Amino acid sequence: MYDISELKRCISDLYEKHRGNNQGDVASYIPELGKADPDLFGISLVTVDGQEFSVGDYQHEFTIQSIIKPIAFLLALEMHGRDKTLAHVGVEPSGDAFNSVELNPRTRLPYNPMVNAGDISVASLIKGASPEAGVSALLDRLGIAAGRDLRIDEHVRDSEATTGSRNRAIAYLLHNFGVIDDGIDHTLHQYFSQCSVLVNCRDLAMIAATIANIGENPATGREAFALTYVRDAMAAMFSCGMYDYSGEWAYRVGVPAKSGVAGGLMAVINRQLGIAVFSPRLDERGNSVRGIAVCTDLAEEFGLHAFEFMNPGSNFLRDAPPTEAAG
Ligand code: DON
Repeated sequence: MYDISELKRCISDLYEKHRGNNQGDVASYIPELGKADPDLFGISLVTVDGQEFSVGDYQHEFTIQSIIKPIAFLLALEMHGRDKTLAHVGVEPSGDAFNSVELNPRTRLPYNPMVNAGDISVASLIKGASPEAGVSALLDRLGIAAGRDLRIDEHVRDSEATTGSRNRAIAYLLHNFGVIDDGIDHTLHQYFSQCSVLVNCRDLAMIAATIANIGENPATGREAFALTYVRDAMAAMFSCGMYDYSGEWAYRVGVPAKSGVAGGLMAVINRQLGIAVFSPRLDERGNSVRGIAVCTDLAEEFGLHAFEFMNPGSNFLRDAPPTEAAG
């Protein structure tokens, strides 16, 4: 296996480089999120052979928020298969804000599972027989991926529910068009709970590494997700995971990723590693400012972009392509 000492050095350097960046603001549209310390900053990485490295506030817990969306999509695919799941949510980037109250006018479905409308539709598919059952099934699987038991922050869930008129509007829109069933409150409970799972930066890197490792947690060897659908989640993250910055992210960074409004960002380097950044100051689209900066620099330095070919020498995580001299 490869030596990650260079990667570790780079992570430490990037932590120092970006810790003084105070651009952006903590999300405050949900009152509980507004209480976050804006200066917190952590970076973690986990390789698919189980090596890990973290710096800064990587043990600080925060709510996962939208980073749950690819996981919820995976669970829906496992429970219902592609045909049924894709009858409830598309896989087309919207180019609009994550909380837009809209459907794709062509399909009358949510654009994709990475925006609120899509995740509310997915929440309806995985909500289970009771509010407790649906949430506990999600926590079980996410805990296997993270490698430890996870729990809900009930203050954040209550805050989401009491200020969630926009999400209720989306749920009623979905119900009106027959996308979700009559259990609207049950669906919203599942959705608000999904956003409110407490994780730390290291958990997110382990979840990302589990996805990179096609569903198997690299530290415990336990299967968190069925390998058949891991590619579906990565594809949706690649094209839609960074909200209305998704196209630019794919162009500049070029890896599947998902961000959340509490300041988390997870990126998946397929078959290689998981990266997570936690920093609560967000840009105007809802993405972590330092998270984007760290991932952009890291991808550049190590040639992590999915379509990188110009600089294979620096891309030591992948097998170098054959050179003329090697024949
Ligand atoms: O629905 C909401 O308002 C949030 N809980 C969504 C979470 C999120 O991270 C969306 N993105 N930036």
